[in-house]
Amino acid sequence: MNVRDWIAIAAKELESQGVESAKLDATLLVAHALNKTKIEAIAHPEWTVPSKADEYLKRRLNREPVAYIIGKKEFFGRDFIVDKRVLIPRPETETLVAEAISRIPAGSKVIDVGTGSGAIAITLEMERRDLQVIASDLSKGALEVASQNRTKHQANVSLICMDCLKATRPQSIDAIVSNPPYVDPNDLRLDEGVRRFEPSAALFAETGTTFIARLILESRMALVKNGLLLFEFGEGQSDEVRTLLRGWNSIEIIKDLFGRDRVAIASKP
Ligand SMILES: C[S@@+](CC[C@H](N)C(=O)[O-])C[C@H]1O[C@@H](n2cnc3c(N)ncnc32)[C@H](O)[C@@H]1O
Repeated sequence: MNVRDWIAIAAKELESQGVESAKLDATLLVAHALNKTKIEAIAHPEWTVPSKADEYLKRRLNREPVAYIIGKKEFFGRDFIVDKRVLIPRPETETLVAEAISRIPAGSKVIDVGTGSGAIAITLEMERRDLQVIASDLSKGALEVASQNRTKHQANVSLICMDCLKATRPQSIDAIVSNPPYVDPNDLRLDEGVRRFEPSAALFAETGTTFIARLILESRMALVKNGLLLFEFGEGQSDEVRTLLRGWNSIEIIKDLFGRDRVAIASKP
């Protein structure tokens, strides 16, 4: 079958199963099967589609995220390797990174807590070559993926295995960035594919904000005076986040691309 017909049929099947962005998904799957870019696949509707594409479609129909099937996700204009050991970087996290890029003072020592694929730390280091960036995670599997991405992008980021900020010396860090686990395990709004395929340690925190509370507490120890804390949080957590940040200076809540409160920024008193 040729590319044009395959995409039309696959998109219809995906649509009938309630998959949003069915046509885009079908195009990404066929491009991956051809080992070509999305643009190349679109530009060559006459190409013959390899049978691998049908296996990929089957996986997508089973709700596996496209990024795991094709093994990559674009974040801040770069492709990051992903597999089931790491959360797939989200577009809303680009807001956190954009704020970090513009606000962290020159020459700072920065830690990205819970780095996963390394998308935040690597982007930050590549956009701000003056920073000393450390990326940490408790998951060894995640650190392996982050290491692959560090090599792919030739980023100068140190990787460490650490439970939150436990092994950090007091007042030794200038800025802390994090997209922590913040989904309440009882939140029924969570997409089925996300719940079934993405690592639960990357998603869930008791009551949603337990890890955030810990991050704020440990950041207060680890940061220098006036050091910056920037982190992402979930829908409906804005008031609680403000409460947890009581006593910090210059607290700001920033909205994401979809207009939802998403990023907290505060400086250590
Ligand atoms: C929401 S994911 C964020 C991944 C990546 N930073 C991103 O934005 O795409 C949260 C990450 O925190 C890590 N994590 C969970 N508990 C942790 C802990 N106690 N200490 C350090 N990292 C932890 C998970 O392994 C996961 O990689």
